[in-house]
Order: sequence, then C-alpha cells, then structure tokens
Amino acid sequence: MNDFIFKDNELYCESIPVKKIAEEAGTPFYLYSLATIKRHFKAFNESSKIMDSIVCFSVKANSNIAILNVLFKLGWGADIVSGGELFRSIKAGVDTSKVVYSGVGKTAGEIEFALNSDILMFNIESMSELHLINKIAENMGKKARISFRVNPDVDPKTHPYISTGMKKNKFGINIKHALESYEEAKKLNNIEAVGLDCHIGSQLTEVAPFDDAVKIIKDLLLKLNKKGFNIQFIDLGGGLGITYENEMPPHPSTYMNSIKDILGGYKGKVIFEPGRVIVGNSGAFITKVIYNKSTGHKNFVIVDGGMNDLIRPALYEAYHEIIPVIKKTGSRVKADVVGPICESADFLGKERTFHSVDEGDFLAVLSAGAYGFSMSSNYNSRPRAAEILVDGDKYYIIRKRETYEDLIEKENIPDLKL
Ligand code: LLP
Repeated sequence: MNDFIFKDNELYCESIPVKKIAEEAGTPFYLYSLATIKRHFKAFNESSKIMDSIVCFSVKANSNIAILNVLFKLGWGADIVSGGELFRSIKAGVDTSKVVYSGVGKTAGEIEFALNSDILMFNIESMSELHLINKIAENMGKKARISFRVNPDVDPKTHPYISTGMKKNKFGINIKHALESYEEAKKLNNIEAVGLDCHIGSQLTEVAPFDDAVKIIKDLLLKLNKKGFNIQFIDLGGGLGITYENEMPPHPSTYMNSIKDILGGYKGKVIFEPGRVIVGNSGAFITKVIYNKSTGHKNFVIVDGGMNDLIRPALYEAYHEIIPVIKKTGSRVKADVVGPICESADFLGKERTFHSVDEGDFLAVLSAGAYGFSMSSNYNSRPRAAEILVDGDKYYIIRKRETYEDLIEKENIPDLKL
C-alpha cells in the first residue's frame, strides 16, 4: 500500500492527509488512490502482453463508475455478471466488444440487453442457459458468441466461499461433459462457440492451482481442435490474490509466464478477468471511533463503520489490517474493533493489540478497495458510505454519502384499510 504512507506519524493517501479528508467529508468512507490503481494496472497489463490478450476488469470487485472509467480509458474491457454491471460498464465508457459475461443465473432480459450491446461473449454455465440464449438470439436475428465455462475440479486452496472451480461448486459445466456441450452448441443456428472459459476461485496465493487448471484447459483445447472447433478465446478468469496480512501472492508476471508456457502453441487470444489484484490494495475504509467499551471480560473499540459497509470480516472472517490515522503511543490494549450493527458478526477486526485509541480518532481499515463498497448494504437502515478518489493532492467524491431520504426513496405506503 505504498500510496497510503505515514509522514511524521500521520497517514497520507498520496499527498493528502487522510485526517483532512475525514474532517471535510465525514466518516465512514472508502478512500482510493488513483496512483495505486494505475500502478497495479500497469504491472498486470505489461505482464499480460507476453501473450495476445484482452484484460476484462472484474466489475464486481469495485463497481464505481469513476474507477471503471479509469480502467476502460486505459484500454481494458469488463467481466460482468449481471445486467446492472453491464449498465454501469456502458455508463463508464466500456468498449462492449471487450465485455465477457459470466454467471449461473442470467435472465432473459439480461441476455437480451447483452446481445443488443454486442458483447464479446457469454460464458455459459449450463445447457439450459445455452438454449435460452440461442432462442433469444434467434428472435433478435442475431448470433451469440459463447464460450463454455468449464469446471476443472481444481482445489484453489482459498476460502471455501470464494472457491468456484471444484465439482461441489455451482459454477460451470462439468469438464467431462465439455466436448458434448460444444457438439450440442454446433447444432444451434444462433450460437457461435468461439471460446473456452474457466475461473477457479478468488484470492489465490499460489501459482500451482492456476497451472493445474490451465493444463486441463489446454488438454480440452487440443481435443476441441481435433474435432474442428475454432477456439479463438481462452478466458482464464481472475483470482490472483493480494497481501492482506502476510500472504505472498505471485507477481502477475510469474503467473502469466507460467500460463504462456502451458498454453504453448495456442494461437488465439487469452482473456483475463482480474478484480482484487487491481483494486484491493488501492483502497482503505476510513471510520471514526465512537466509543471505547470494556465489559470487564473484553475490550471493544466501537466505530461508525460496520458490516453493512465492509462485510468481508463477518462473511469470511477475513483479516484487514486496522491502523489509526494519527499514530498513537502509550498503553497497549487488546480489543475487538466493532461496528454499530445489532449482530455479533459485526466486527472489522478481532482481538487486535494496539496502542489505545481515543473516541473521535480516525482508523483506516486497509486493503478494502475490492469487495468493500461493492458488497455494502443498507442493513440497520444505515445510509451507505461515501467513496473518495485521491489523485496527487486532489480528491474527488466519486459517490456521495447516502442520506436518510435515499433510504426510503423507492418505498411507498399503500392506502390500506386497517
Ligand atoms: N471472474 C469471475 C467469473 C469471477 O467469479 C470472479 C470473482 C472474478 C473473475 C474476479 O476474481 P478476483 O480477481 O477478484 O479474485 N467477495 C469475495 C470474492 C468473490 C469473488 C467472486 N468472483 C471476497 O470478498 O473475497
């Protein structure tokens, strides 16, 4: 996180003191560094150039249109999983010829929207979906480009909730049925099978599971070639992990080199769908200490941000480093950092030992740029936090804090006879 750095005991995001932003904008909020996003973009993009590739940013990781716009302007496309993500991507200026669409539950309306937008391809996850896309494309007088998302049954060695490529998961087509799926697609007039896709999971910190999956994909590719299928795109999904605590994930170039070696003589394009690795460490969640509380049994630091803002600790027991925005000295305590929500799972950090913080202090929850705001909710009728992007010595509010009015804007009280 080298764009979140301490200068004289005070945390800066690029050239701006975080405290200054917190005082001006109020808390809680997500804070992103443009310099970090650009640096991560460059590292991934340059590494990907050793192959003929297209990079499609995984919109679910961070869906703010300002951030999407940066990545699209720099030349990337989008990996989407819903009509809403397609809508956002278009608003953020995506070139729809670089959009790939995954997801097990695409609806007819979403499929029609994607066909109208002329996306690059649908990553198909079931035979029912294949037939529905064919039917909709036929009605629209179009041909849908597709790939099958195959499930290679590889253990990604990550949290079970974010593992997707094992046979017990709901994702993709059983690798054993892949050939017959392509044969079936060939019979359909409004389908053109142009790709082969797999995504095995997220927050992978080793190259080995990727290698295992790519070997399986390569094997399948050779079989498909033999049968005369013209596969022009191999989509290898996302999944490259980041450092939250002391993980040592491979650099994108290590991962790419390995893929290139395995794919050998493959002549088509390779698609990557990175999310977390680009934005995870570009963002922090900034929150304020409301109360210090000791129950006699345990200490709690109660802050104004909760699981509705950042659900990763509650959902996956994920670790996020938490630091005070102004370095503290003095006595040390062990405490849970918790939010105001009425759930025991509402914690941002458990059993953390740090110098005591005071009520009114600002804390930064690090590595929160991916799956932070995009997974947030209004639970407990909490207006969602603001999102702020820093560029050098300037900052921009890229999403306003929600208001109480926003909370009920879509609701309606019918005239009931009671
Ligand atoms: N492609 C597909 C088809 C995906 O399902 C995902 C993530 C990605 C790409 C991007 O993966 P990444 O590069 O970010 O690892 N909410 C969880 C992560 C869920 C990931 C879902 N799929 C978390 O907070 O850890």
